[in-house]
Amino acid sequence: MGEAAAKRNQVFTEPGQYGCLNWPPASFILNSPMKSNLPFSNKLVLPLGVFILLLCASADFSRAQTTNSEVTDAAPVAPPAVPVLQIKADQVVAKVSPTFYGLMTEDINFALEGGLYAELIRNRTFKANPTNAVYWSAINGSISLDTNQSLNSALNVSLKLDATQATKNSPAGIANGGYWGIPVRRNGGTISLDANRQPAAAPDIYHASFYAKAASRFNGALTVAIQSNDGKTIFASAEVSEITSDWKKYEVTLTPKPYSSSKDNQLVISTTSPGTIWFQQVSLFPPTYKNRPNGARRDLMELMAGMKPSFLRFPGGDFLEGHQLDHHFDWKKTIGGISERPGHMNDAWGYWTTDGFGLLEFLEWCEDLNMQPVLALYAGYSKNPNVIQGADLQPYVQDALDEIEYVTGDASTKWGSRRIQDGHPAPFPLNYVEIGNEDFFDKSGSYDGRFAQFYDAIKAKYPQLQIISTVGNDHPESQRIHSRTPDLVDEHFYKSQEAMEAQSHIYDDRPRTGPKVFVGEWATRVGRPTPNMAGALGDAAWMCCMERNADLVQLESYAPLFVNVSDLARGGSMQWPSDLIGYDALTSYGSPSYYAQVIFSNNHGDEVLATDSQDVPTYPWRAPGRGQSASPRQVPSLFFDATRDSASGIIFLKIVNRNSTAQSVHVKISGVNNVDSSAEAVVLSADSPDATNSIQEPKKIAPAVSAVDGVGADFTRDFPAYSITVLKLKTH
Ligand code: AHR
Repeated sequence: MGEAAAKRNQVFTEPGQYGCLNWPPASFILNSPMKSNLPFSNKLVLPLGVFILLLCASADFSRAQTTNSEVTDAAPVAPPAVPVLQIKADQVVAKVSPTFYGLMTEDINFALEGGLYAELIRNRTFKANPTNAVYWSAINGSISLDTNQSLNSALNVSLKLDATQATKNSPAGIANGGYWGIPVRRNGGTISLDANRQPAAAPDIYHASFYAKAASRFNGALTVAIQSNDGKTIFASAEVSEITSDWKKYEVTLTPKPYSSSKDNQLVISTTSPGTIWFQQVSLFPPTYKNRPNGARRDLMELMAGMKPSFLRFPGGDFLEGHQLDHHFDWKKTIGGISERPGHMNDAWGYWTTDGFGLLEFLEWCEDLNMQPVLALYAGYSKNPNVIQGADLQPYVQDALDEIEYVTGDASTKWGSRRIQDGHPAPFPLNYVEIGNEDFFDKSGSYDGRFAQFYDAIKAKYPQLQIISTVGNDHPESQRIHSRTPDLVDEHFYKSQEAMEAQSHIYDDRPRTGPKVFVGEWATRVGRPTPNMAGALGDAAWMCCMERNADLVQLESYAPLFVNVSDLARGGSMQWPSDLIGYDALTSYGSPSYYAQVIFSNNHGDEVLATDSQDVPTYPWRAPGRGQSASPRQVPSLFFDATRDSASGIIFLKIVNRNSTAQSVHVKISGVNNVDSSAEAVVLSADSPDATNSIQEPKKIAPAVSAVDGVGADFTRDFPAYSITVLKLKTH
């Protein structure tokens, strides 16, 4: 074992990084509208999909399955003594990169449409289905799609309302129930009064807008209302009149003042006058984070702000690539006014995106949370598979250069001026770009060549940019980049709790001679829709590993970030369990894994201290697929790392106890004059590894902060069962 590894307390290594569930995603088999180019007939798709799903589910989905099948029934090896953990405060083995903790995102699980993007209307442009006005219903009259009355070439279809039978007593209209509901909140106004009989908070002001035109004889008005699904409660309504035979945009504000919060509501636009009316881009926004027009949902932004992320990797993930080539994230079609954006089928995850949340909105998200973008560039590979290379790839290389210019350019550049015209004069900071996504799936062997084309063009124009390869050392040497030297490699890990714990030392002895590492996607996949405490424990073990090796691991981001939990049945709102943050139309919550992220991201120093340990307890585990005859391996059940804030001298000692009983640990700190006997402790713990958070119990598992005594340069302390602890030790 090398000296550096020894200092990092290397214990085990783990071969094989990629979980079965990772590919193919369920949506590829079951939800995706694209099927025609698959190498087998449609008749085979469903049974094959079900087979793969069952296979994957049995291998990895539930904790009960993974844990019980993988942990052997051999008697645990009893630790011979209380484990000893030494922190060598005079040995700094690494600096923690300021960009260490970040976020990764893409439109999966209705993460953007029906999630972070605050738009409440589902299928606002009527393009989600070419033949049906899905998610819309008619009230009295009838509705149909009409391609003869298009708003423009981007929004080339409209919704036709036949309201010829409308009367005062029987209005006709269109209705949309949003993404599993339209929320109204009992915030305040004249209804919700605080203890002093004052409005508790200003009521929410919603902004509704739509394009409309009418057949020439229509001379009535339209009523725009947010109302309960049964129509009995109108929360807010407004009128627009003078609907002409030309397209015109209409806008109103609506201020619901409900007696209680609810989501079983609709937006209804109706008329009491007979006629025919066409609609396009029917939109409803609640207040957004920082009141950005076309902005983001407040509660989700606030949850992310709690994680103090330093970067955002976007826009994917498979969403970047699409399955079919023409379904990749084509950034130039996602900028400008939202009525100029055609939208596209998100065939990676099986639903339509309006691209209302486009490149500029991703960048503004970065700005609002003080993150830097890690820009994933489409690199000519879509997962179906489609590969573009050589001269055919050149337009895509140019698109990438244009995209970088849009992000960073000033007014003297074509695409910088375009960003300014789109409303953002200041360029965005950009240090990292990633070439593609998971190109180890490209079995054609084209990635080295494609990477080189992008690398050369980008380095020539933007030599300061760090360029990331999507094939890391977790993949065979033959798949990695050889013709150029990537600045970083992106490594992805989706694993069970035991597998995550078993690999919790893999970076300790990784040679420091190659590219730095970006762990751009990882998760302990235990619990659905969001991870439970077992997931958080696996995550914390893994984060200790990454943090301990922060000289090598420069950035890390959990994935996926979001899941809409409204419809967890197949084909519903979730394509990929387990996900960090869950929500429905009205409320949201962080999983135990979310709180593990919050704890780690908020509690670390800028220096990694050398640690050593003895008598770390272990448990026996047999990796799935190795056969019952294979002897189980011993996996640690206690994990740790220590960082120090060089300014204050505070040591952040993280200890993770995955055992079902409290664990005593003897901590010895050398290389400092004095350590205070009291400290602050931040603890996330649960009674059971299955314990979790949900819409109903959003904070069942949440960090507790307390003052503790009895610590110092040499102390023994009990760490609770199923717990993640940070001790903030003051040194002098
Ligand atoms: O995070 C879900 C998916 O996992 C990503 O889209 C893809 O990059 C990976 O396979």
